[in-house]
Amino acid sequence: MQILTGKKVFITGAASGIGKATAVAMAKAGGRLFLTDINQEGINQTCSLIKNAGGEVCLARAFNVADYQAMATFAQEVHAGYGPLDILVNVAGVALFSQVEDMGHSDWEKVINVNLWGVIHGIECFVPEMIRAGHGGYIVSVSSAAGLIGLPWHAVYSGTKHALVGISEVLRYDLKKHNIGVSVICPGAVNTGLVKTAEIHASSGSTDKIRHLFTKIALTPERVADIIMNAIRTRKFLVITSFDIKLLYFLKRHFPTLFHLIMLLLTRIMDKSLKRDV
Ligand SMILES: NC(=O)c1ccc[n+]([C@@H]2O[C@H](COP(=O)([O-])OP(=O)(O)OC[C@H]3O[C@@H](n4cnc5c(N)ncnc54)[C@H](O)[C@@H]3O)[C@@H](O)[C@H]2O)c1
Repeated sequence: MQILTGKKVFITGAASGIGKATAVAMAKAGGRLFLTDINQEGINQTCSLIKNAGGEVCLARAFNVADYQAMATFAQEVHAGYGPLDILVNVAGVALFSQVEDMGHSDWEKVINVNLWGVIHGIECFVPEMIRAGHGGYIVSVSSAAGLIGLPWHAVYSGTKHALVGISEVLRYDLKKHNIGVSVICPGAVNTGLVKTAEIHASSGSTDKIRHLFTKIALTPERVADIIMNAIRTRKFLVITSFDIKLLYFLKRHFPTLFHLIMLLLTRIMDKSLKRDV
């Protein structure tokens, strides 16, 4: 279905997982793509995949979304050559799970720089131009289940992902007058590169088990890309991709005492499963 015919779409984190699957789905739907990722080889592969299937990639550049100057330079190139975007999709992210006493300052900084500053950079470099153009548009930011629930061992990750829900909620209302829609996607487990690259401050034996368990309940990134496409089509604001997280978020809002007991149990299970290197 060519629902995005001619629409200019910028996707971060397009070399792998959810970003890559979303890029493929959006190209299939007729979008003209602008792609980035820190991984040059991965971004080349995504471009080849899309072009071989007859899709259009206007520009693809490898850079770090945490680097404001790199994002601003890319935005200038896009605006000068192609004009304002129609759709901004913030996907790039990293994960770190740790007890707070096992984290150094650089651990906090690295996750905040990518997951929060990276998204802010996308918004500040592209959205004002979308507003000035007056053609409306759409912003999608990929948060997480950890953006709605303070999951055990997720202090910094959950902090950044809650911030994305907060920013998105403000933009949802602030940008309505400009006909710019907003979705925030809160996936549960998804089987992507992140399963391997997520940094977990615990012994490798115990993290292997957790990673394995995670993949058993995970959705495919292609399924999440479909869900993102549907969110844009229906202009749905908050999108939770899996039933377990929908249920937990429901309990958090309507049955706080039960939610509290479940969180105590979940934390105990995580503490027992992950053996810290002390
Ligand atoms: N996989 C899951 O279970 C899951 C669950 C909830 C939320 N998420 C979120 O989904 C998003 C996509 O993750 P994924 O699961 O597809 O993982 P992934 O590792 O497959 O993809 C993430 C991509 O982001 C890129 N990236 C990382 N740091 C970057 C940087 N500084 N600059 C530019 N690109 C950078 C990586 O190179 C990678 O290609 C992330 O924001 C993640 O937090 C994932």
